[in-house]
Order: sequence, then C-alpha cells, then structure tokens
Amino acid sequence: MISKDDIQRINEASHIEEVVGDFVLLKKKGANFWGLCPFHNEKTPSFSVSPSKNIFKCFGCGAAGGSVNFVMQHENYTYPEALRFLAKKYNIEIVERETSPEEKQVEDEKQLIYLLHEMAQKYYADCLHNTDEGKSVGLSYLKGRKFSENAIEKFGLGYAPEGRSGFSAHAISQGYSLEALKTAGLAVDSPTPTDRFRGRVIFPIYSIAGRVLGFGARMMKSNDHSPKYLNSPETPIYHKSNVLYGLYHAKNTIQKNDNCFIVEGYTDVISLFQADIQNVVSSSGTSLTDDQIRLIKRHTSNVTVLFDADPAGIKAAFRGIDMLLDAGMNVKVLLLPDNDDPDSFAAKNRDQDIASYFETHAQNFINYKAEFLSGEAGNDPVKRAAVIKDIVQSIARIQDGITRALFVRECSRIIKLDEKIIAAEVSKILRKRFSEQSRTVADKTPIIEIDDTQPEQIIEAADRFSYLESRVASLLINYYNNTIPVMILDDNNEATEIQMSVSEFIMQTLLVDDYSPRTQMTSKIFGFFKEAYDQTELIDPSAWISSVEDNNLRKYIIDLMTSPYTISPNWLKELDVNVLSIDNAPELLTKDVKYTVFHYKLLRLQEELDVLGKELENTTEPEKQNKILKSMQYTQSVMKEIGSKLGIIRLD
Ligand code: GTP
Ligand code: MN
Repeated sequence: MISKDDIQRINEASHIEEVVGDFVLLKKKGANFWGLCPFHNEKTPSFSVSPSKNIFKCFGCGAAGGSVNFVMQHENYTYPEALRFLAKKYNIEIVERETSPEEKQVEDEKQLIYLLHEMAQKYYADCLHNTDEGKSVGLSYLKGRKFSENAIEKFGLGYAPEGRSGFSAHAISQGYSLEALKTAGLAVDSPTPTDRFRGRVIFPIYSIAGRVLGFGARMMKSNDHSPKYLNSPETPIYHKSNVLYGLYHAKNTIQKNDNCFIVEGYTDVISLFQADIQNVVSSSGTSLTDDQIRLIKRHTSNVTVLFDADPAGIKAAFRGIDMLLDAGMNVKVLLLPDNDDPDSFAAKNRDQDIASYFETHAQNFINYKAEFLSGEAGNDPVKRAAVIKDIVQSIARIQDGITRALFVRECSRIIKLDEKIIAAEVSKILRKRFSEQSRTVADKTPIIEIDDTQPEQIIEAADRFSYLESRVASLLINYYNNTIPVMILDDNNEATEIQMSVSEFIMQTLLVDDYSPRTQMTSKIFGFFKEAYDQTELIDPSAWISSVEDNNLRKYIIDLMTSPYTISPNWLKELDVNVLSIDNAPELLTKDVKYTVFHYKLLRLQEELDVLGKELENTTEPEKQNKILKSMQYTQSVMKEIGSKLGIIRLD
C-alpha cells in the first residue's frame, strides 16, 4: 500500500505536460498544449493539456483527468501501478504502508497464485511449442483451425499434456506446495497430485492489466465424457463474473473505434482478432453479468452482439441484451450467414470481406427485435399484442429520451401501429418504474438524481436550486485557495474585515450544518471539501481528481475546471461588465462568491421553512407548536439578514 503522504508527493511532483509529453507530441498554443488524442482516432488535435490546472482533456472523446489517470488509461495500469510509475519518473522514494498481518496473508496468497499462473502459462506454452506431444496434438490442432503463429503467441495459448501430473510435478519441483496448486484450481489431490487440465489446448484468461487469472481448456479427444471446455474454478484471483475474455487485448481498439463486439467463445475472439477485428471480447458462453457490462462501459457505450441465426439462440440473446440497454449502452446486433459462428465465418472469408460484412450487416437491436418478433407473430392479434408489450419493455430501457423517441417512431413503422399508442405504453412503464424507485429511496436519502453531467447546460435547467449548487461546487474547485474579504464580529462585537479563503467561507456559511446536496455529483464534491476542511488538510482538487475512480464524476469536475468562465451570468448582467475570467478581478470574485453562496443558502432556508410549516400544520400539541414557531422565526431572521446583504427587499 502506498501512503497518503506519498500519493500527495507524487501528485505534487507530476507535471501533466511532462507526463503526457512522454507519449504524445504536444504543441504550445496560448496557455495550453495541444496534440492528437491517444485515446481515439483523429486527424486534427482536440486533446488539450493545461499545465496550470495540471489536467488533460480531450474535446473529441471526452477523456479527461490528471497525470495518474493519463498513465492508467494510456498504459493500462492500475492505480497503484500508475503511482509507482510516476514515482519512478520523478525519483520519489515511496514507503509502502505497513499492512496488517491478515491483510498481508491475503495479499501474499494472492501474489503466490498470480506467480503460479504466470509460471503455468509459460509451462503450457512450452509444452505446446517444444514437446512432441504438444506439437503433434495441440499445435497441429490449432494450425488446423487456421490460428496464426502470431495469434497463438499473442494470446499465450498452450497445451496441457495427457499425463496425470506433469504440471503438478513441475510446480512442486519449483517449490510450490500442493496446497497452493489446489487453491489456484490447477490441481487436486485424489489421492495423489492430479492436474486439472490434461490433454487440452489451453487458453489463458487475462486481467485488464494483462496478468493471467485462470485458464480455459479445450479437449482434444471427442470420445471423452468430460465437457468440451474446462475452466478454472473461482479462486482468490479469478472471479468469472468479473472477467471478459479478450478484453486485455481488445481495450485499446475498443476505445479507438468506440465500439465493442461481443462473441460467445474463446476461438471466436482469436479468429476475429487475427482477421484484424481487434475490438472483440467474449463472455465465454454464458450471458453477460452486470460487472462485465461495467468493464466494457469503461471503454465504450456502443456494443455489437454477434449471435447465431437460429431462432432459439436469437431469443436467448434478447434477454441478455436487455441488460446492456439497462446499462445505457447502444446495442447493435450482427447475424452471421449459414449457421456460421464468428470463428468459422472468419476462417472462410478474406479480412476485407469480413470487415465489410460487419459494417453493412450490423443493425440496431430494437429495430431487429421488432422486425423479428412481428414477423413471427404475423397477423395474429393476440401474438401481436404480446410482441408490442415485449418491444415496449426494451424501448423503455433506453436511458436517453431523444433516442427513445426515435425508436418509438421506428417501431411504429415496423409493427405498423400508431406512434402515439407505443409512446403511451412506454411512458406508462417509465412512470411506474419512477414511482417505484422514488418510493424506495424517499426516506433514505433526499438526493434527487438529475442529469448534471454537463454543467454548461445547467444554466438552462429549470432547477435553480441545482444550478446554484453546481456553481458553489465550481467555486470550491476553481477558487478554493483564493481569499476574499469578509466582515466578521470580533470579541468586542466590532466589525472587522478579514481575509478568508473561498473554501473556508463556503464551509462556514453552508457546510457546517448537516446537509444533503441535491445531486450526487455535488454531494461528492462537497463531501470531499468538507472532509479535507474537517481534517484541516490542504486542498488541491487537481491532485484529488487523479484518485477519483468514477469516470462521470471526474469528467464533471474537469468540466467545472475548464468551462470558459465561471462568473455568474447574473453578475455579468448586473455589473454590466465584459469579463471572461474573474481570475484577475478579485472584487468580482468576492461578489460572485457571496452572491452565489447567499442565494443558495436562501433557497435552502426557504426549503427548511416549508418543512417547518408543514410540521406546524400537523402538530396539535401547543408545546411543540411553540418550538416549531421559534425555529421558523429564527430561520426567517437569518433569511432576512441574508436578503438584506443581497439587497433583496421583498422578504416577509
Ligand atoms: P470450438 O468448438 O472450439 O469452436 O469452440 P467455440 O468457442 O466455438 O465453442 P462453442 O460455440 O461451443 O461455445 C462457446 C463458448 O462456450 C466456449 O468458448 C466456452 O467458453 C463455452 N463452452 C462451450 N462448451 C463448454 C463446456 O462444455 N463447458 C464450459 N464450462 N464452457 C463451455
Ligand atoms: Mn466454434
């Protein structure tokens, strides 16, 4: 574990333009640097690096973050790996934090199993290439399936010999215990050490960072009673629901092409990969899990699912695809001709024909489903009604309203049913879902999810409350350390002017009380500043964003940091000045902070007052009534005071 102090030192030492500059050719233009984005294909630079904010942001694909994020994304490092990389670059010595004995034991066991897998992969690959049995059984099988030398190498394929304990004996001779082999799922003792994989071609399963987590193994002798594929069991390092076969090799291309193909099998992945379709992953024969979908979503929101053209397979695929829609993915489907699977299709066709088939035959899932089902139902009214219900369910899963409306129209054309009827059915489902959700969260958390991922648009949003809230967040992030003059009453009750940092002013005015922001984004931002303030830590948001794992939150923060100006439009109007930045106009900053913070506070107090008013209505006990009235009076007096500071007359 790397200590908090070291993380801070690494963040402080890392200069974003130097870190990015090692990988991307940057040109200085004004205060920033520009280059071609390494995360998507582009011909003109839309990738910007801001040394003053110590962040990068691509205006093309939206990738954004600090030095650590850049290294993580570019080099596919985990968070600690990226920190170590930067520490090395800047010659920072890091002291790994002491771990507890229990933590250490778990860590040690995992490390051991990782090492064992690394060794096993080498062993199986060696058997494939350098033993007679491996060559005559395994390699000739793979060659027969037209796997190229290059692909065999790249995916680390191997061969497990037929003998009972070849691998176990080798591992034990290397100093590994039988216990470790069992925990790793590579051997059993029944009653002597016995290899799990025997007489099979081995497909290593890699983590996103490229470490071997487990194996899939295909049998060679078809007379066997054992399953065609045998996989590693769940182990401390392999959780099958959280791994996608091929993702390690595919992720860069997925990101560049902004699309991911999903196939069923190991061999499908490899065959397409060597046909130069590299953005392909496999769920290994089972339907996708939520965790696997989340893995894909880190790289793209667009997926194309490949499946066989038989009706049973199609219907089975429908169910899994609804989960992708739930996750907000755009889903296309691709059907292959003549009972081909991707592997056999790739073996039969030339690379460019495969590519063009994929391009021309991918169709939108919803349209496909509507066509398929309505074809099946024919003119039978009962069946047609069922089809409509089914499709409407899928449409209602689409998260984006405009896209949803477009599909309502498309489907009305395909099923030949009035658009209004379909739209009404969709909103019925949405309303039902919404009321169910709000019921379950109502008492637990007052946070209302609104789409606040794009701060620029918030100005247009009807919700003034969340608008002001996002502006407070923006002030915290951009001006946390700037000081503004604030009048306070000293011990003798005399007013004195002191300089206070923006973050302190906001904390004292707003965040001292228990307090729940409207949106999750602002809630997290306020939470960060409050915690830092409570612990009197120095606040540096540009170092903080490197540790923010939630992509949406990180993008939101960076949008707040990079929006063209942060002064409230109201102030611009009121002051009749034409400023694009308040960085060098301290009096404007002071006004902006006070204006924003006080208005926001006023709205909060008004809300409190409303709640108290309702309570009063429902109370009959005179004593309680009195208490509530007192609270209301107090709240009103604070509101009046703030109102007068803002020059607001109307307040009663
Ligand atoms: P080939 O027959 O070698 O072309 O394999 P394939 O990848 O085309 O296999 P298939 O289409 O039969 O199955 C797709 C995927 O399901 C495989 O890649 C495996 O991940 C999985 N699978 C298939 N058969 C078995 C099995 O018997 N046991 C397990 N656990 N998984 C299987
Ligand atoms: Mn196959």
